[in-house]
Amino acid sequence: MLRVSESDFLSGSRVDLPKKPWGGRFKKATHELVERFTESVSFDKRLFVDDIEGSIAHVKMLSKQGIVSSEEEQAIIDGLRDIRAEMETGEFPFRTEYEDIHLNIEARLIEKIGEAGGRLHTARSRNDQIALDERLYLRRETREINSLIKSLAGAFLTQAEDNVGVMVPFYTHLQRAQPVLLSHYLLAYFEMLRRDRERYMDCMKRFNVLPLGVCAGAGTTFPIDRHYAAELLGFPTVTRNSIDTVSDRDFVIEFIATSAIHYMHLSRLAEELVLWSSKEFDFVDLGDEFTTGSSIMPQKRNPDVAELIRGKTARVYGSLTAVLTLMKGLPFSYNRDMQEDKEPLFDTVDTVKSSLEVLAEMIKTARFKPESMESALTGGFSTATDLADYLARKGMAFRKAHEVVGGVVSMAEERGRELHQLSIEELRSHSELFAQDVFECITVEGSISSRTSYGGTAKQSVLKQLEECSKELELW
Ligand code: ARG
Repeated sequence: MLRVSESDFLSGSRVDLPKKPWGGRFKKATHELVERFTESVSFDKRLFVDDIEGSIAHVKMLSKQGIVSSEEEQAIIDGLRDIRAEMETGEFPFRTEYEDIHLNIEARLIEKIGEAGGRLHTARSRNDQIALDERLYLRRETREINSLIKSLAGAFLTQAEDNVGVMVPFYTHLQRAQPVLLSHYLLAYFEMLRRDRERYMDCMKRFNVLPLGVCAGAGTTFPIDRHYAAELLGFPTVTRNSIDTVSDRDFVIEFIATSAIHYMHLSRLAEELVLWSSKEFDFVDLGDEFTTGSSIMPQKRNPDVAELIRGKTARVYGSLTAVLTLMKGLPFSYNRDMQEDKEPLFDTVDTVKSSLEVLAEMIKTARFKPESMESALTGGFSTATDLADYLARKGMAFRKAHEVVGGVVSMAEERGRELHQLSIEELRSHSELFAQDVFECITVEGSISSRTSYGGTAKQSVLKQLEECSKELELW
């Protein structure tokens, strides 16, 4: 049986906690200001579940390898479970003099079980420990985020199913472009969310690798079994290079970058909700539950939730910039600077999750307004492209047809009429190719139903899309 030398924590069999677990070579106490300045336990304590899960796997591995006895293993596991219960009930005595979550738990363990507790940190360093905790944390949170994305995508799908008959203009340059089905429009958000989810899954591949066992950064003299620890913690594989392992935070950056892209999407959605719920558009009613009032203007119902989501994009982008900047000048390997990755990471997770939660409910309960959408389709010549397509089908080059229809639009505008209100004579004054059948394709319905190309807005294509999306969603 391999034995670790007596740890700093112990004097004889009596448990005697020094002020610092690493205090052996220090003659003077840490300045109180340094203590306050360097601590991270006030915010990294949220990693306690992960820290304890990692420690339990670590001690199981140590025991299997004969590095600690099975009695010690049991005592450590029991102690750690006790500590977890203390954390959950809020009874755990957090102490800033123990810097971070790791040392707080270790010191408490020794306080509870004595000498055996001091053996937990064998063949481990806080450098690989924190790399493990962050990965476990991200795995947990990524799964939650993905299930929240699923709820939001599900809300879009339901709205799309419920609004198949509704028509709306889509916009380019915020000018009315062409008529589409509202369902088609809503499913565009489904696609964004599908890609976001894929990105989260993909970045999980890179952080779902066990870092534990590289210790301070050079590996260890103990006969550990890293693959066994990986198996216990459900990691498909272990990291290959110890220096890289303690230096790497790209997985944190990649997660925040993924979140930044995702949040950019949420922000665009928020912006559309702001526009669409304005009186100018009046395409959607967000309901009393999801709007707020003004303290002075009694008539107001403001889309504050959507605005805050748009606003919180700044936090997520800020976090990405913070961690990129944090890492850019660091020499190998671990540097204390890296402790600064936690708050931006936690803030990103909190922001993304709370936004998804509220957005899913908001989309579920939103009431779209077909009448205003349809009246927006009457002005703005949104079927002008259909008129040009008509001439092109009759043999005119599209570029020429574009020009001819430009003239038609200009005439209609001067005479204060819509395209379908022009007479056949008026149309024929621009081109001989116009015949009576032209009127079928310049109605809003005609325009939509003729866009049958794959991915287009014709009803059959949209129904097919709906079917595919709902099948996909079940597998998420
Ligand atoms: N609180 C530290 C961090 O977040 C844990 C790792 C500490 N390692 C060390 N060598 N001081 O980075």
